[in-house]
Amino acid sequence: MNHQVLPLLGVSFFLVACVAGAAEGDRRPYIVQMDVSAMPTPFTTHEGWYTSVLSSLAGKEEEAAPEHLYTYAHAMHGFSAVLTPRQLAEIQRMEGHVTAFPETYARLHTTRTPEFLGLTGGGAGGVWPASKYGEDVIVGIVDTGVWPESESFSDAGMTTKAVPARWKGACEAGKAFKASMCNGKLIGARSFSKALKQRGLAIAPDDYDSARDYYGHGSHTSSTAAGSAVKGASYFGYANGTATGIAPMARLAMYKAVFSGDTLESASSDVLAAMDRAIADGVDVMSLSLGFPETSYDTNVIAIGAFAAMQKGIFVTCSAGNDGSDGYTIMNGAPWITTVGASTIDREFTATVTLGSGSGGKSIHGKSVYPEHTPIADADLYYGHGNKSKQKCDYSSLSRKEVSGKYVFCTAGESLREQMDEVQGAGGRGLIAASNMKEFLQPTDYVMPLVLVTPSDGAAIQKFVTATKAPKVSIRFVGTELGVKPAPAVAYFSSRGPTQMSPAILKPDIVAPGVDILAAWVPNKEIMEIGKQKLYAKYMLVSGTSMASPHVAGVVALLRSAHPDWSPAAIRSAMMTTAYVKDNANNVIVSMPNRSPGTPLDYGSGHVSPNQATDPGLVYDATADDYVNFLCGLRYSSRQIAAVTGRRNASCAAGANLDLNYPSFMVILNHTTSATRTFKRVLTNVAGSAAKYSMSVTAPAGMKVTVTPSALSFGGKGSKQGFSVTVQVSQVKRAVDDYSYIGNHGFLTWNEVGGKHAVRSPIVSAFAQ
Ligand SMILES: *[C@@H]1O[C@H](CO)[C@@H](O)[C@H](O)[C@H]1NC(C)=O
Ligand SMILES: *[C@@H]1O[C@H](CO)[C@@H](O)[C@H](O)[C@H]1NC(C)=O
Ligand SMILES: *[C@@H]1O[C@H](CO)[C@@H](O)[C@H](O)[C@H]1NC(C)=O
Ligand SMILES: *[C@@H]1O[C@H](CO)[C@@H](O)[C@H](O)[C@H]1NC(C)=O
Repeated sequence: MNHQVLPLLGVSFFLVACVAGAAEGDRRPYIVQMDVSAMPTPFTTHEGWYTSVLSSLAGKEEEAAPEHLYTYAHAMHGFSAVLTPRQLAEIQRMEGHVTAFPETYARLHTTRTPEFLGLTGGGAGGVWPASKYGEDVIVGIVDTGVWPESESFSDAGMTTKAVPARWKGACEAGKAFKASMCNGKLIGARSFSKALKQRGLAIAPDDYDSARDYYGHGSHTSSTAAGSAVKGASYFGYANGTATGIAPMARLAMYKAVFSGDTLESASSDVLAAMDRAIADGVDVMSLSLGFPETSYDTNVIAIGAFAAMQKGIFVTCSAGNDGSDGYTIMNGAPWITTVGASTIDREFTATVTLGSGSGGKSIHGKSVYPEHTPIADADLYYGHGNKSKQKCDYSSLSRKEVSGKYVFCTAGESLREQMDEVQGAGGRGLIAASNMKEFLQPTDYVMPLVLVTPSDGAAIQKFVTATKAPKVSIRFVGTELGVKPAPAVAYFSSRGPTQMSPAILKPDIVAPGVDILAAWVPNKEIMEIGKQKLYAKYMLVSGTSMASPHVAGVVALLRSAHPDWSPAAIRSAMMTTAYVKDNANNVIVSMPNRSPGTPLDYGSGHVSPNQATDPGLVYDATADDYVNFLCGLRYSSRQIAAVTGRRNASCAAGANLDLNYPSFMVILNHTTSATRTFKRVLTNVAGSAAKYSMSVTAPAGMKVTVTPSALSFGGKGSKQGFSVTVQVSQVKRAVDDYSYIGNHGFLTWNEVGGKHAVRSPIVSAFAQ
């Protein structure tokens, strides 16, 4: 099987720096195929071997060192690298060399999230060509910085490298960051740490007091939104393919305001300064994958900064938070922010567990992203049968005598990390864990061979171990599986609605991919150690709503480019009313971990669908004045309103209410079992020609929806029509300790008569907190 271990040093950075200063000569990329059976014994991994081969070629004065591009372990074994003729000749003389040929250039390959989002299959009418891949839209990311040498931030494939003339940003020099490190892709990079330093919060000694990323998170989010296409990216072979941002031709500007201290640290005044600069610099889209504790909007810097941005026409998207799956856990739920939840894609990383010696035993489908892929054959399997704490691998339950050198099966416990610690501490070699999938594991948690199985498969393993003398197990790390059903599913960790600060607006707005997303990482930070081998990764699989928000930022960049005249509210409406709520098995998107059918409190309007969003037919638009009216409806004082909006003398009109022109409808039951609410809405025709629409409503028992009028007739582009929706809800009062806030939900859809547009909004009733 394939081994993939990435280089041991910060070689990527140093090689790039070195190459930049060297004469290019006739260096060019070659694909070098190697015979892995000829791998010399000192090497434990192919990549270690290749790295050593390449290092051995360096050192000639006046000659650029080889630049290692990729390692191959599936379609072929070998690597590609930029080599001089002398270096190539030397490789060709080496033992184990099979063949080497110059790289050729072809059409871009597809990748998973753009593919899953339908971007690659949109055809000529799709939003990728319509938007020229987001050309000249500037996406600003507030995060942990960026690793500028990453291929994801190369401008080599940009249609135009010239920075848009309107751009007022800068590439700030700082620790390990030169002003020359920006380019036609990464057009701005700034760092904001004054408040953090002032507060005496330690920035970790290794973090950079500059826009350079130490942690990896910012490189990941920014490359997800608008990274360049990079072929051959993978996390130790997992998720192999071309890594590309959602808007690959858009520009990026990094605003570093999150630093590594004891944990990730971020001061609100630094974040506000970052947003301040981003607005001044001229970004078109801003994405923040962070949140401060929920307080009223006048004391929340993200809500405040986002309001100012929205007033300037800048679209602000934020992650909804990772505090699911309980209700009322939304962060960044202000109605002028687009709040994004996380869902899975149709990709999984499979490991097969075979029970019993040989290959004839029962085979169980598990999951793993353990970096070492060597199959494990006929290993001893331990299970603490008859002792609850040993069964669960509780802290201090396992003895070395019992588990040393063995694979251990653990039933679902409190924490997989603690179970791994326990097994490792007792000398176990690996872990097969029944998991309820409630814990948030990142790849770096896989410090030993770990395979997750479902509780029901776990029961089968339990039965096998207890019935078998000297039980054996074999594990095969199969790798990447595509087309997995059902997908999408709302991630268990994704924060659920309603939002505490303004429950009358449904949140999240939408869900987007946020589970096991492959994107750029920092290559010099050790991610784990296996045996004596330290591992590093240029691309990392990460999960979180942090990953979902930049997907939406990328989609917004495409829509912005295709429709420069749309307001942020119009763009959001286009995404929401065209979002889908059925998964790839044609069932309602499920909510993890229970796999129960999801509701709009899990997925908002549904899963983002970029090609549909570019042609929504009608939009629910809103202006800054509408949001002021909404704040009045929340009974904010004029001071509070001024704090949010910067409008000193905003006066609330008599009868100001919470009736924002929003593309969703929410009824909050305030300790009652029935309520009636009337909403007023205005739709704007954004299609090219006049159109008639008629409404259709799906509503469950206990929810009565009346729409007046029931048909709307629009003139050409820009034509507006109003209507009202009355929702009567009556339902069973929830139990005191019932944390499912959802009452009921239905949908209102405006269907174009004789046309293709369908403009759908969820109608939701939920209990007050
Ligand atoms: C990834 O590798 C697997 C084999 O391990 C292969 O089947 C698949 O086609 C590869 N995927 C891509 C996108 O290259
Ligand atoms: C289970 O194992 C633990 C830890 O080895 C031990 O302290 C405990 O007494 C055992 N319990 C039973 C019921 O045997
Ligand atoms: C706000 O109102 C006060 C008094 O009502 C007035 O003096 C002041 O000029 C107003 N400010 C603005 C910005 O309109
Ligand atoms: C909801 O009910 C509580 C207590 O019954 C009351 O204090 C509160 O004002 C009500 N809120 C609204 C918006 O009606």
